[in-house]
Amino acid sequence: NTVVLKVDPANPEPDVIRRAADVIRAGGLVAFPTETVYGLGANALSTDAVSGIFTAKGRPATNPLIVHISGMVRNHPQVPQTHTVPDVSEVLNVASAWPATAARLAARFWPGPLTLVVPKRDNVPDIVTAGGQTVAVRCPNHPVARALIRAAGTPLAAPSANRSTELSPTRAEHVLKSLNGRIDLLLDGGPCSGGLESTVVDVTAEFPRVLRPGLITVPMLEEVCGRVEFGTASGGIARAPGQMVKHYSPRTPLVLADDADAEHQRLREGGFRVISLGHDLIYAYKSISGDPEEYAADLYAVLHELDSGQYDRIVIEMPPDTPEWAAVRDRLTRAAAHE
Ligand code: TXA
Ligand code: MG
Repeated sequence: NTVVLKVDPANPEPDVIRRAADVIRAGGLVAFPTETVYGLGANALSTDAVSGIFTAKGRPATNPLIVHISGMVRNHPQVPQTHTVPDVSEVLNVASAWPATAARLAARFWPGPLTLVVPKRDNVPDIVTAGGQTVAVRCPNHPVARALIRAAGTPLAAPSANRSTELSPTRAEHVLKSLNGRIDLLLDGGPCSGGLESTVVDVTAEFPRVLRPGLITVPMLEEVCGRVEFGTASGGIARAPGQMVKHYSPRTPLVLADDADAEHQRLREGGFRVISLGHDLIYAYKSISGDPEEYAADLYAVLHELDSGQYDRIVIEMPPDTPEWAAVRDRLTRAAAHE
């Protein structure tokens, strides 16, 4: 069975972190909280350790993983002493180049929910990058994640800590529901504040390209680097290699609607047990505001909860088609996609 250890999310206990780091160094799998979702970590520089991630998740080998680095606590004249700044030497442990765009974006958004795709170094095993010549790197903004990486002394390959195609976990209990017995250790650091996976940006070409929308929005990226590419020539979202349309799905079929009430009515008349969420996602005691960040923070938790209820259909009203809702709309669309 999976060992579960509680950890203080703000000040992780050194003995707890040490135990988790020992598991990583021994080639094992540790689920840990980040500011986006829970990750399933293994030593990114070990093919054997990383292959365990694919087995535990049932993940296709064609879907590459994000490599997580710790960042450094540094003195910086303009910021408080404890501020974490990206450390280029740590990046260059896994990347063979660090383009100017990457440096600018990292300086602004790291540590945080931004993943940068850059040319990979030879020591990163093929299994991490799905055989490709690029590697996705992220410096998470969560004390537990960073302490674990630092204590393990190695970057961590970490996808979301759920079985492939299932909903991502934003609470320790979501991880257990999906992976209990399949992983060595779970660090329970409470709920994740961000709630959606990081924005993935490819910075290997002249203009940065958003491969997966997230809480760092296109306007935020444009503010730092001017022109940003988004979507393919055909107009759709550019897919990261191996990224499937159906992803992040609850077991209960999810229906997206422009008018949740009307759709609810229609399905009820068809004999379905239905729960519907209007645009402000009012669910029982929980009332999420129309603010995209608050919505994102609770979306997966609400879906996990509804999924264990006795419903045949979940109806969700589609949020507006504006940049700040792009990540939520992307995840809802995938969650509603059929096989
Ligand atoms: O917020 C997050 O990013 C979370 C936490 C744990 O950090 N991780 C996460 O990992 O969402 P995962 O494996 O569920 O999603 C990784 C995404 C996939 O869409 C994958 O295709 C893309 O990153 N990706 C990874 N390496 C890539 C590469 N070399 N080139 C392009 N896309 C890549
Ligand atoms: Mg995932």
